[in-house]
Amino acid sequence: MSNVVIVGAQWGDEGKGKVVDLFTSWADVVVRYQGGANAGHTLVVGGVKTVLHLVPSGILHPGKKCIIGNGVVVDPEALLEEIDLLRSRGLLADPTQLVVSENAHVILPYHKRIDAGREKQKAIGTTGRGIGPCYEDKVARRGIRVRDVLKEGALRTKLEERLREANAQIKALGGEKCELEPLMDWALKLGERMRPYVGDASEVLSHEVAKGRAVLFEGAQGTLLDIDHGTYPYVTSSNTVAGNAAVGAGLGPTAIHSVIGITKAYTTRVGNGPLPTELNDATGEKLRAVGAEYGATTGRPRRCGWLDALVLRYAARVNGLSGLAMTKLDVLTGFEKILVATAYKLPNGKTVGEFPSDPELLEQAKPIYEELPGWKEPLGNQREYQELPENTRRYIERVEQLVGVETIAVSLGAERAQTIVRKNPFRHP
Ligand code: IMP
Repeated sequence: MSNVVIVGAQWGDEGKGKVVDLFTSWADVVVRYQGGANAGHTLVVGGVKTVLHLVPSGILHPGKKCIIGNGVVVDPEALLEEIDLLRSRGLLADPTQLVVSENAHVILPYHKRIDAGREKQKAIGTTGRGIGPCYEDKVARRGIRVRDVLKEGALRTKLEERLREANAQIKALGGEKCELEPLMDWALKLGERMRPYVGDASEVLSHEVAKGRAVLFEGAQGTLLDIDHGTYPYVTSSNTVAGNAAVGAGLGPTAIHSVIGITKAYTTRVGNGPLPTELNDATGEKLRAVGAEYGATTGRPRRCGWLDALVLRYAARVNGLSGLAMTKLDVLTGFEKILVATAYKLPNGKTVGEFPSDPELLEQAKPIYEELPGWKEPLGNQREYQELPENTRRYIERVEQLVGVETIAVSLGAERAQTIVRKNPFRHP
């Protein structure tokens, strides 16, 4: 058995939650290593829909250990809401099933106020969950960590100091300042409720690995939203790529054996920033309507377009992808032709086959498409790859060729059963 990272190969919302949920059958432990409640994973099991923002979606499998690593930014209210929901459904009966790293940073109300104020000045289109300001505090060495909300004395000293600056920032942005005492009260109460789940996540995980347990690292957001490798500045504030799985979980990179990139059969993005294959026409609207492309966290309509092979090749490079999982293929049923971008035409007339690292070039890049024949057969009930319509297989195989990575799974609908797995990623060759 081996340890596998799952990452979004596009701009997030690729359907990672469903793939993680499915691959969890082979894993013993599931770990979140970055991001926070900006993520939203919608899972449908036996007709029951669950939306999770922080707790790894592996929690829906009784008995699997779930870890929120040091690299995550934890919104205590959002976390406890999820815990309550899970417990009301008879899940998470044993609190040791979930371990929240004591070193993970905490999102406080002032982070959200700063996030909201900044969006009014320069819109990145954030989720408004306070993610960026919390990571800023972490890097500036003035953050509040989960361990801090468990200790009144330490918390008071840190919050008093931090609030002075945070309130000055909020004031400059025209927001409402945060008062120390209500904040202390809020943080300590939530800290107390989180206490049964808090621990040394790195140590717990290292024991699991030493016992030969299979670990699934669950990435949030997507490669193109990575703070270093994404479409900066229209990105999230953490490293979403696979390399960060080790850092954000407290293990070394040798603990990782394979990396699976999740891609939709087309492309979507929420928030601002370049999206070369975006379709502002009836086709884009059809993709949005059929694919129900509205954000799981904010409900915002997602921008839609054709699949972009340059994006996937880039994701293969920066994540070291060993396999792809393609989701929502069923949405493409009924399109007469299906397009895939294979190159970009740049304003200087040059044609490039690699995703440009220069954001100005990217903004002006015009995709060059290859047309593939569509299919009319509804997808969802097929259980073997060979049962898929010929043109569906042709599409998948052409994408594999363009990206240079094999497709190990395809998803044909929201239900857990509507997936064809061609290869178990935990079985190391
Ligand atoms: P933030 O992570 O809330 O700071 O938002 C920064 C950018 O990342 C915005 O464009 C968001 O729409 C985008 N983003 C953050 N989380 C997700 C996600 O889970 N799926 C898709 N986009 C996301």
